[in-house]
Amino acid sequence: MEENKKYYVTTPIYYPSGDFHVGTCYCTLMADTLARYKRLRGYDVFFMTGTDEHGQKIEEKAKARGITPKEYVDEFVAKAKDLWKVLDISYDKYMRTTDEYHVKAVQQIFEKLLAKGDIYKGEYKGLYCTPCESFWTETQLVDGKCPDCGREVKEVKEESYFFKLSKYKDRLLQYYEEHPEFLEPEKRKNEMVKNFFDKGLEDLCVTRTTIDWGIRVISDPKHTVYVWLDALTNYITALGYTTDQDEMMKKYWPADLHLVGKEIFRFHSIIWPAILMALDLPLPKKVFGHGWLVVNGNKISKSFGNYKDPRIYIRDTSVDALRYYLIKEITFGDDGNFSEDLFIEKTNSDLSNDLGNLVSRVTAMVEKYNQGIVVKNDSLPLEDIDKDLINSAEEMIPNFEKYMDDLKTNEAIAEIWKLISKANKYIDLSTPWVLAKEENKDRLNQVLYNLVETIRIVAVPLQCFFIETPSKIMNQIGVTKEEMTWESAKTFGVLKDGTKVSKGEILFPRIDKTEELFKVEDEVVEETQEEERKGIITIDELDKVELKVGQIKEVEKVAKSKKLYKLQVDVGEKELRTIVSGLVPYYKEEELLGKQVVVVTNLQPAKLCGVESNGMLLAAGDYDVVKLLVLDNNNGILENGSNIH
Ligand code: ME8
Ligand code: MG
Repeated sequence: MEENKKYYVTTPIYYPSGDFHVGTCYCTLMADTLARYKRLRGYDVFFMTGTDEHGQKIEEKAKARGITPKEYVDEFVAKAKDLWKVLDISYDKYMRTTDEYHVKAVQQIFEKLLAKGDIYKGEYKGLYCTPCESFWTETQLVDGKCPDCGREVKEVKEESYFFKLSKYKDRLLQYYEEHPEFLEPEKRKNEMVKNFFDKGLEDLCVTRTTIDWGIRVISDPKHTVYVWLDALTNYITALGYTTDQDEMMKKYWPADLHLVGKEIFRFHSIIWPAILMALDLPLPKKVFGHGWLVVNGNKISKSFGNYKDPRIYIRDTSVDALRYYLIKEITFGDDGNFSEDLFIEKTNSDLSNDLGNLVSRVTAMVEKYNQGIVVKNDSLPLEDIDKDLINSAEEMIPNFEKYMDDLKTNEAIAEIWKLISKANKYIDLSTPWVLAKEENKDRLNQVLYNLVETIRIVAVPLQCFFIETPSKIMNQIGVTKEEMTWESAKTFGVLKDGTKVSKGEILFPRIDKTEELFKVEDEVVEETQEEERKGIITIDELDKVELKVGQIKEVEKVAKSKKLYKLQVDVGEKELRTIVSGLVPYYKEEELLGKQVVVVTNLQPAKLCGVESNGMLLAAGDYDVVKLLVLDNNNGILENGSNIH
């Protein structure tokens, strides 16, 4: 590994404000793809993501739930890490702004800038949007509301410290000028310069006296550091900036790429470089502002209520299918519509048909015509169709690299699919079945070799964004990791004579659009409701919930559903109750029959997949494990319909 081949890439640090949706996963997936790509190319990669854990919003949310802010953020971080595991995000560090090294470093950065005169004390009069944690001037408001989220802003007035942003105006403009590659995409840079510089660059308020949940200013502890100075500096505090353990800082700073969503692009292109200038540190090599994932024109977000847990998509397809759709179909830099229909369509066309069929056809033919053995024999001259395929294969990686290095990820991936479709065409042109019939063994072997070798070359860059598929392909075409290196994919003919191919499971089963597909199950809905729950309840409120012992008398699957049972439950009433419950993945029918369980009997009836449910069974667990609360005195002492207190 060359000494200077390092790559430091970051995502924003996320606010622990709600659940993750495909929109919030997007940036992390893109960063992960770039990190995997650079690792494959031999770079020493440092890929960081994390959480931005201070601020009023978090303080308020924690209070509403009756827990401490730290408990609140810890809970969120656990959830976030869990999702990143499901999506197989290969981060090297998970950064938290509540970590002690960060807190200390921010305090020192503050004192340093204060001593230098780049931070000074003043009075803040302004308009503040609490949900966005942003201050605005009158002229920035849109219809009197926050220009980012459209919500009410409130007027605040308090003693504050300010960062002398105005001082850096000319240097910033000059820097943009001299480093055209610093801010991308171009259109966002122009928009940002126009919107913010033309209106003048005001000094930035960097402390509050009214927010408790934040980093204390050492020299004036009634102030806490206002979020952006706290948040942006994470990119260097994580490397040990201000400590004497700063080898990481020496090795990885300046960052090669900050990936951010378009609404926080301006913070990363104005405030962050100015802070770095004030600290006499080099600026990141590039800030890239990607677009939003939208559904019918609206940004996917918690507040619009148009999001689903990304795991739902993975549940019904695969992690690779979701990754492919987000990385390939959303143009990097632009807003992109997240369409479930298009997701299904692309999974079926690009993954099941193009890639999946190529691998299954070729491996099946090698098994059928040559007992799975690939023969390399260079004695036959190449035909034109061979030369064409080989040229395309050898051009693919250089083209892919060029696009990836320009962050044109969509085009990069398209290069792989160009080769895939060329290989599929090659099958039709070379007609191995005819060669087999004619017993033209040498030509048949040559054609099959070319196809398996093309699949090997295709599989190498797939490792940049697929998790499960590359190793499945490797197993099927019988190659080792050593035959899958980046450099090896630039030369056609690396695949060894005698390689043993074995047709394996289908890579991407076709997806049928049914009513059940991507259906939000009960537990996800419950999670949303939990967010809205405000704190604790009284005993009277608890009393409103009627819990009874019920016995499951009949079990039947709901026809249209993969998850739901229609149960008949005896809760001590004249008639059995029909209750619909999502237990199919967790219990067999016979395991449920006769069980005495805990039933909520006064729940408003609801229709699930066309069946009216009158009550609910209590169960514990979450996504993977669900256990019904079952009374251990089955058929015993407690009568059906007994109250539970
Ligand atoms: O802004 N499509 O955190 P955040 C694409 N803590 N990206 C989306 C999206 C969507 N529908 N919704 C959200 C913050 N995002 C700060 C960052 S960095 C020093 C501090 C993206 O949790 C959004 O654009 O509100 C942003 O880049 C990221 O999620 C985190 O947003
Ligand atoms: Mg945000």
